[in-house]
Formats: sequence, C-alpha cells, structure tokens
Amino acid sequence: MLCYKLCRQPRPKSEWPQEECLIRDDIKRLWPELDWIQNADLREKVTRTWERAFELSPLRPDDLNQIPFTLLVPNCPTTFMEHKRCVVHISRHSAEAMREFMGNSLKIDLDTVIAGAILADVGKLLEYEIKAGKAVQSPRGEMVRHPFTGVALAMECGVPDAVCHIIAAHAAEGDLVKRTTEAFIVHHADFMAFLPFKNLKF
Ligand SMILES: [Fe+2]
Repeated sequence: MLCYKLCRQPRPKSEWPQEECLIRDDIKRLWPELDWIQNADLREKVTRTWERAFELSPLRPDDLNQIPFTLLVPNCPTTFMEHKRCVVHISRHSAEAMREFMGNSLKIDLDTVIAGAILADVGKLLEYEIKAGKAVQSPRGEMVRHPFTGVALAMECGVPDAVCHIIAAHAAEGDLVKRTTEAFIVHHADFMAFLPFKNLKF
C-alpha cells in the first residue's frame, strides 16, 4: 500500500506518518464495503479520495457516525454512515439482481457501481460543518454542492470517469444528463433510502 499525502510521491506504508495511518484505519472502519471493490487500483483511488476529503474537511471520521445524513429532513435520526452504507448495499444487491435476470442485454460493471456508491456523497465533507454541536451547511456548501466537490476530489485522486459520472449524476443535478446504467442504480438506491424520510415526522 502506498501513501500520496503531502509530497504526492508514493511512499511505502512503513514510512507513513502516524496520523496518515490512523486516518486510513478510520476510513477502513467506516467503510468495510471498500473490500467489495475487486480492482485493487480502483479500491486504492476510492480510499485515497476519502482520505483527501478528510484532509480538507472540518469533519472527523467519528462525526459521520453522529451527524444526520441529510439536512433536508428536520431531526433526521439516521446517521450519515447508516444511510451511505445502506445505499451501497442496495446498489450492490440491485446490480447483482439486474445482472442475474437481464445480464444478457444489460452490461453492468459491479466495481463501478460499488465505487460510485461509496463516493457519491464524499463531497459532503466539504459541504457540512459543525456549529454548536450540529451539522450545518458550510459557506462553501452553499456555493458548490457535494456532487461537484465530490467529482473534484475524485478526479484529483485519479478515479475513472465512469465513477466520477455516478458522483456527478447521483442527485437531482443528474436529471439533466444521460445517466449510465451504473449511475441509474446508485441514483435510485440513494433516493429510495432518502425519499421515505420526507414523509415521516420525528
Ligand atoms: Fe448526495
């Protein structure tokens, strides 16, 4: 495993500063689903994107197990990580079912689906900040929503365009573009795990 932080030159893990190892460990703890990505290079780039997001974010890894997954639902009781991991699981199972029954006519790349689902909301680390113990939209988040910052982070880390497309098109902004099959899967998984909350009262 290589580290790209600060100097941008890959270094073996034995030479990493302690803080970088800890962030990596935190990301692996947050995202056991990273191991579902078969392609090692893609898995590393997805992990690196989360690492880069934490380098730039006011949020710490533990915050993601505390803050609500959306600011659009008042008093939302579901955490960021509960929602995000649920979306990844729905995306994977949906992609597998579609491949099983329609694989002859519909090509679906499972690694792309999983990587896209894991990265769809990585930009929220630049969209949120914590004030008085509560997650609120940051000034940057008001200007640039997370599909855009997510793509910027992912491209910086060398994530392939097919995965960046999913980040870009997973939310309402994506209604304006022609989604790939993989992007449709993540988009619908995201919304089926979000829209019911809008009809509930907490
Ligand atoms: Fe999102």
